[in-house]
Amino acid sequence: MRFDILTLFPNIIESYINSSIIARAIEKKLIEVNIVNIRDFTLLKNGQVDDTIYGGGSGMVLMCEPVVRAIESVKTVDSKVYLMSPQGQIFSDKYAEKLKEETNHLILVCGHYEGFDERILKFVDGEISIGDYVLTGGELPSLVVLDTVSRFIEGVIDTDSFQNDSFRNNLLDYPVYTKPREFRGLKVPDVLLSGDHKKIDEFNKAEQLRVTKEKRPDLL
Ligand SMILES: C[S@@+](CC[C@H](N)C(=O)[O-])C[C@H]1O[C@@H](n2cnc3c(N)ncnc32)[C@H](O)[C@@H]1O
Repeated sequence: MRFDILTLFPNIIESYINSSIIARAIEKKLIEVNIVNIRDFTLLKNGQVDDTIYGGGSGMVLMCEPVVRAIESVKTVDSKVYLMSPQGQIFSDKYAEKLKEETNHLILVCGHYEGFDERILKFVDGEISIGDYVLTGGELPSLVVLDTVSRFIEGVIDTDSFQNDSFRNNLLDYPVYTKPREFRGLKVPDVLLSGDHKKIDEFNKAEQLRVTKEKRPDLL
């Protein structure tokens, strides 16, 4: 699957995709991430990409020309284009899975300052919000989308761990423990040390239900 991230701050995206699981997924060619600098698409000589708000108001707004030209530079008939915006549809695990089913090419556009000229909405498939709060830019949201969608691509993460991850089947993941067996009087449950895989499986399933009831009863 290919991701194009359109941004004014390529270095933020670069530093994330060059580490850990996402870097490995790129290396294994399971995903491809292309960073597009919106500034390269302005027609103004001074590199300007934003301007003041018509009608007044503080702050600067990203202009149509550079953003739309940047989108058009990577868009194909199969692409889906989303603006990162606090006004968008709220992102979730289910939404990520839907995006993965929907397309093999996601174009994610990061805003900054006061956001986008409203007319840019006519050139995209939708807006995605990562939650009801306002960040200074769309870079973190685009990385949240890239990371979450990538986990649905076969081979990016271990299938077994993926199956039990939180939100699969509307349940949270079960609690996990590592060495030592006892830490400051807190013991790992005996059954997990028993070697009886059937019992461990039953225990973990019951634990999934317990923690979901406790922490996120709304999921059940
Ligand atoms: C300061 S925000 C602009 C907010 C805009 N004035 C508003 O209130 O709707 C700048 C950029 O950060 C990104 N952004 C901020 N919060 C976000 C969120 N919760 N989800 C997705 N993108 C967000 C968007 O790309 C946005 O264009």
